[in-house]
Amino acid sequence: MKPIAIVGYGGLGREVALLIHQINVIEPRWKLIGYLDDNQLQDTTSFKVPFLGPINYASSLSPEVALVIGVGTPSLRIKLANLIGGAHDFPNLIHPSAVYSEQNWNIGVGNIITSHCSFTTGITIGNFNVFNTKITIGHDVVIGNGNVFNPTTCISGHVSIGHRNLFGVNSVVLQTRSVGNDNQLAAGSVLMSSMRHGETWLGVPALKVE
Ligand SMILES: CC(C)(COP(=O)(O)OP(=O)(O)OC[C@H]1O[C@@H](n2cnc3c(N)ncnc32)[C@H](O)[C@@H]1OP(=O)(O)O)[C@@H](O)C(=O)NCCC(=O)NCCS
Repeated sequence: MKPIAIVGYGGLGREVALLIHQINVIEPRWKLIGYLDDNQLQDTTSFKVPFLGPINYASSLSPEVALVIGVGTPSLRIKLANLIGGAHDFPNLIHPSAVYSEQNWNIGVGNIITSHCSFTTGITIGNFNVFNTKITIGHDVVIGNGNVFNPTTCISGHVSIGHRNLFGVNSVVLQTRSVGNDNQLAAGSVLMSSMRHGETWLGVPALKVE
């Protein structure tokens, strides 16, 4: 089993510990050696994952240790990936219940896909995104880096998404819309327009918050 450590051990980090456990139940692949965080945190999981040290301790870990960014803030995911970078692998961690076809998507590295996510066809996914529970991604969707999709987000066909966007729980993007960089779509909102950069949209239909 390949050693792996989680970078950031708040709520998402602990969910990643569970994801690693759920992957191992089907096929033993990962030995979770511990977590890195600037604070030593109480582990509310049953796994009692050891605290290895602050995030900059990553440079002292053997390059054999794979890393996963367990932080749910889009911009911070990319910052940490750039900070740590270099020697370590950042694998894609994909829950066994995810529905996808290797032949019908292109995917980068460092992505987290938790339970019951569904991906159809012609999909391109960059690096360090989080698909957190029951996400559906439709045909011909293009997704950049560091986006966070909170539970039950639905992205329809031919949508293009840039980098570091946050999709609130139960949000929807209609087909062919585009989403730039650093935007927020509020929980429960339905996006019927396109978003540029650094915007927050809210409601049904979603309107830009001025
Ligand atoms: C869009 C969002 C990021 C804005 O956060 P924020 O800038 O901190 O905004 P606030 O929470 O201060 O809310 C600002 C106003 O918008 C309203 N609002 C916020 N989110 C809303 C939503 N989803 N639907 C309707 N109104 C909402 C608030 O009630 C508030 O109204 P007020 O000014 O009249 O009091 C946040 O509301 C959101 O939806 N985050 C996603 C949360 C999520 O997905 N959690 C799941 C984690 S697994």
